[in-house]
Amino acid sequence: MPLTQKLTLAQFLIEERQRHSDAADDFDNLILNIAVACKQISRAIAFGALAGVHGTDGVVNVQGEQQQKLDAISNNVFLSINERAGNLAGMVSEEMEALYQIPEQYPRGKYLLSFDPIDGSTNIDVNVSVGSIFSILRAPEGVVDAVTENDFLQPGSKQVAGGYAIYGPSTMLVLTVGNGVNGFTLDPDSGDFILTHPQLRIPAKTQEFAINASNSRFWEPPIKRYIAECLEGEAGPRGKNFNMRWVASMVAEAHRIVMRGGVFMYPRDGRDPSRAGRLRLLYEANPIAFIMEQAGGYASTGTQPILSVQPSAVHQRIALIFGSKEEVDRLESYHTGQSPSSLPDPLFRERSLFRESA
Ligand code: F6P
Repeated sequence: MPLTQKLTLAQFLIEERQRHSDAADDFDNLILNIAVACKQISRAIAFGALAGVHGTDGVVNVQGEQQQKLDAISNNVFLSINERAGNLAGMVSEEMEALYQIPEQYPRGKYLLSFDPIDGSTNIDVNVSVGSIFSILRAPEGVVDAVTENDFLQPGSKQVAGGYAIYGPSTMLVLTVGNGVNGFTLDPDSGDFILTHPQLRIPAKTQEFAINASNSRFWEPPIKRYIAECLEGEAGPRGKNFNMRWVASMVAEAHRIVMRGGVFMYPRDGRDPSRAGRLRLLYEANPIAFIMEQAGGYASTGTQPILSVQPSAVHQRIALIFGSKEEVDRLESYHTGQSPSSLPDPLFRERSLFRESA
């Protein structure tokens, strides 16, 4: 009888490669290097005030936000571990306006890495979960020297891997290489990420939503309608009560949704009409959308799948709705006016506006 043993991330990648002979060593090494970066960040976060890593460092980042000390530390961890390994042609980070070119002394590789080293960083000082998010693309053929912005402007459907680390009560790495979603928990004794949550699936139905309700006066009509219907509960058109959560760390919301379902919304709103949304397409929306779809959920701008958006700039913002498929479909239908196939047909009859007899 075979001994059952929990797989480490390295063993998992080797087994995946045996199944898909086109995957290469340098891809595995890239994932393992990202995991090393996440372990180092996890450790810095765990030491917290003891290591003097709390607070801001006085710098305003490319997003116009105060940079936290851990933003800068984590960014350097990601860069220094990945720049020397020979797997990458270039990097994009939330913390850097410019693309990051691989220094001349190091070999170049065929992948592009986009990342947000710490998502939700204003939560660090209050000891609430934060995370790192990453997306891997293939560099276009022929990129031998410096990468250009254009090389990164590929739709999310072209990602070869995406995922996040969550630094919560335990540290987890949640990863897709395009073949489902697997969750690994960091064993603080051995330092290994262990496969604890194989083939995660997001339930299609949910009764839990996440949105920053303080922006409600700026929401567009489809979001106002959706939230109003949820709040009406059992007595309203949805016929069921909803629960609400808002951690203000997108990774933490995504992880909750991966584990038990739910829907997350950071839609476009009227605060600044020139902004398409709050979150970033390349290193926030795309990898989370890849995880959602690979786990049976869905991610949308409201009008189209996130993974189909052709990016126009590396730090582009986007409206982001993700989670349980039926709810995201419903939200999309409220934006487009089209009834989605995953929902019962009389969708529009639920609401007085569309009800045949009010
Ligand atoms: O990336 C930015 C971020 O911190 C997300 O993790 C989070 O969902 C969002 O901003 C919170 O925004 P707000 O402070 O507007 O609620």
